[in-house]
Amino acid sequence: MIKPNPFTPQSGWEPRVFGGREKESSVFERSLEDALALRPNHLLLLGEWGIGKTSLLKQFKRITQERGLPACFCSISRFSGKDRPLDALHLIAEEVVMGLPGLKASPAKLLDSFSRKKSLVHAQTQFTTFLLELWQAQDAKLVVILLDDLQNLSSVSNTIDILRAVLSKEDIIKKTRFLFILSSTPNDWSVFIDKHDPVGRFFRSRLNVGNLDKTDVVTTVDRTLEDTGVTFDNDIKERIFDHTNGHPYEVQLLASHLYNGQIGGRVDNDSWDNALNNTLKELGKDYFNTLLSKASDREMDLLRILAEEKRPLSIKDLRTMMIVGRYAKKFPIANIKNFLYRLEEKGIIDRNKNGYFDIPDRMFREFVSRRN
Ligand SMILES: Nc1ncnc2c1ncn2[C@@H]1O[C@H](COP(=O)(O)OP(=O)(O)O)[C@@H](O)[C@H]1O
Ligand SMILES: [Mg+2]
Repeated sequence: MIKPNPFTPQSGWEPRVFGGREKESSVFERSLEDALALRPNHLLLLGEWGIGKTSLLKQFKRITQERGLPACFCSISRFSGKDRPLDALHLIAEEVVMGLPGLKASPAKLLDSFSRKKSLVHAQTQFTTFLLELWQAQDAKLVVILLDDLQNLSSVSNTIDILRAVLSKEDIIKKTRFLFILSSTPNDWSVFIDKHDPVGRFFRSRLNVGNLDKTDVVTTVDRTLEDTGVTFDNDIKERIFDHTNGHPYEVQLLASHLYNGQIGGRVDNDSWDNALNNTLKELGKDYFNTLLSKASDREMDLLRILAEEKRPLSIKDLRTMMIVGRYAKKFPIANIKNFLYRLEEKGIIDRNKNGYFDIPDRMFREFVSRRN
């Protein structure tokens, strides 16, 4: 009997088989050791949508607990301009209290130090008191707090500055030992540090979360398929890597569609086109359409050329292509540079160190060329 689909193409769903991330895990283990031996050096994970930040934080939680230490995972929901930093800190406090097992004080008592009625200027004092009391209410040598999706605090960005201020307080440093691991998308993090300069200097240990490598992808797919009654041809596994470049979400989504196309427990090249079409359609709904809607018509013209050429191009290349050849059209040539920089700012294209522009994500490139 063939088992239900084992792939997990849902944001925030942990993969059935956690692939790769040896380097990231050892960085985290070192942070744990340093925190136990000396003092906590809070760590920040940076990575784009779907790259595996949430899954990695949950892996860190498991590693911590395996060592016999408590850890709690807090998912930060989106705050709006009407909220105050105090609301955000209160949510974090609630999640921490709910997530830590065996506390000696009741949740209500611990959150009591944290009254919503008091004014915003007290947020810092209240969060400090909360952490001091929380520390008293447990026996471990170290408590790990994982805060996921910090970018959701953009509209109350001083929350992070308050967190920084609290964690730098002498009382907190002397009397407690909390290790904070944060995650955010890179662009939002740059905005935070632009606005609140000391934040960048405080959270100095960073881990850039990137794609999985080829071996990781092939091994993850194989191990996920174990005991399901389904096998993928080697060719298919190669193609999964070629198309996704190891982007974890794309790997899970594509593999999931391929799995659904099995015939007699086998997935070969006959299943490919259909699975790829469905994957692109879903990626469009999840993400690519939103990304594309940020591009103006003129920017779209340039994006189409990059998608078709499938290679990095310089400003000069693009300028020439707009004047002669098959892409030639009426175009404000003088502004090409601005359009390209704007596309880069919006996170739609990349610029390499030689100043060449490219669409880095093959799936996105495929998506753009199919819209022509
Ligand atoms: N190390 C990994 N190995 C295999 N699949 C992974 C891994 N990390 C993430 N995934 C899968 O990728 C998708 C996105 O992961 P997620 O952790 O939600 O990313 P993010 O939080 O950065 O948006 C999920 O479907 C998840 O199951
Ligand atoms: Mg996430």
